[in-house]
Amino acid sequence: MSRQYTATPKYIKLEDVTDQNSFQKLVWDYYRDQGRHDLPWRLPNKQGEFDPYCIMVSEIMLQQTQVARVVPKYQKFLEAFPNVETLARAPLADVLKLWNGLGYNRRAKFLWQAAGFVARKHNGKMPDTLTELISLPGIGPNTAGAILAYAFNRPVVFIETNIRTVFIHHFLSDQSGVDDRTLLPIIQEALPQDAPREWYWALMDYGTHIKQTVGNVSRASKTYTKQSTFQGSRRQIRGQVLRTLIAGPMTAADLTRQINDERLLEVLQSLTSEGLIAAFDGTYALSA
Ligand code: ADE
Repeated sequence: MSRQYTATPKYIKLEDVTDQNSFQKLVWDYYRDQGRHDLPWRLPNKQGEFDPYCIMVSEIMLQQTQVARVVPKYQKFLEAFPNVETLARAPLADVLKLWNGLGYNRRAKFLWQAAGFVARKHNGKMPDTLTELISLPGIGPNTAGAILAYAFNRPVVFIETNIRTVFIHHFLSDQSGVDDRTLLPIIQEALPQDAPREWYWALMDYGTHIKQTVGNVSRASKTYTKQSTFQGSRRQIRGQVLRTLIAGPMTAADLTRQINDERLLEVLQSLTSEGLIAAFDGTYALSA
C-alpha cells in the first residue's frame, strides 16, 4: 500500500523540517512514491538522453498551462515538429494551429523564433549555457534554468511556481511578500549537486501536492500573479480569432459576425502587430 502524504508530514516532526537532510528525504520520499514518473518529457529517448529541444518545447508549454492539458499537445507537437529544423522550417500558421487550445499564443511564435535562431545561429544544436538560452525569444532566466536542469542535468538554481510553493511552505510560511531573492539561496542550499534533474522533478510534484492539500501558499510570494479570468477576457477573444482563422482567411466583417465583441478590432490590431496574424486587402489570415 502506498503511504499517505500530508503536506506537513506526520513522520517528520515540524521542528525538524528546516533541517536540510530531512527536508530532502521528505521530497525524495514523496517523489519515489507519488511522483509523476511517466510524464512524456521525463522519459529519455532510446539513447537514454533528454533531447534539449523537446525539453524546451515542454517548458514553454508548461509556463502557463497545466500539465494535463500540455501532455496531448506536447505529443502532437513533437510528431509534427520532431526537431529544431522541422520547427524552424514550418510556416508559423502551422505552429499556431497545433498550439490552439494551449492559450497564450505568443509563446508559439517565440518557440518558433527560438527554433529559427537555434537553426541559423547554433547550427541546429541547442545551446547549453544560461547566457545563450536567455538570448532566445520567450526564454527568461527561469525557463533557461529549467532547460539546463532537465536537459543537461546541470545543478543550476531557478524558480518556478511549484518550487516557490515548496520553499515558502517549508521555510518561510510565517512570512508574506516573500521575494525570489530570499528564496534563491535556500533553493541553492537544498539542491543535491549530483541529481538536479530528478530533484527538480520531485520539487514540481511535491509543490503540486502542497497546492492541492494546503492551498496556493505561493500567494505569499511577491512574484505571485493570479492568472486572469479567461471567460469574457481579451485573451479569450484572441483565442477565438486564431481558432476562427485556422479554418481559413476571413474579412473583418466576417470575423465580426462570428465574434461579436467591441474589443475585436483592437484584438485584431494587436495580433497583427505581434505578427501572429497578417492583414492583406482587408482579409485576415494566420501569419505564414
Ligand atoms: N516536469 C518538468 N518540468 C515541469 C514543469 N514545468 N511542470 C511540471 N512538471 C514538470
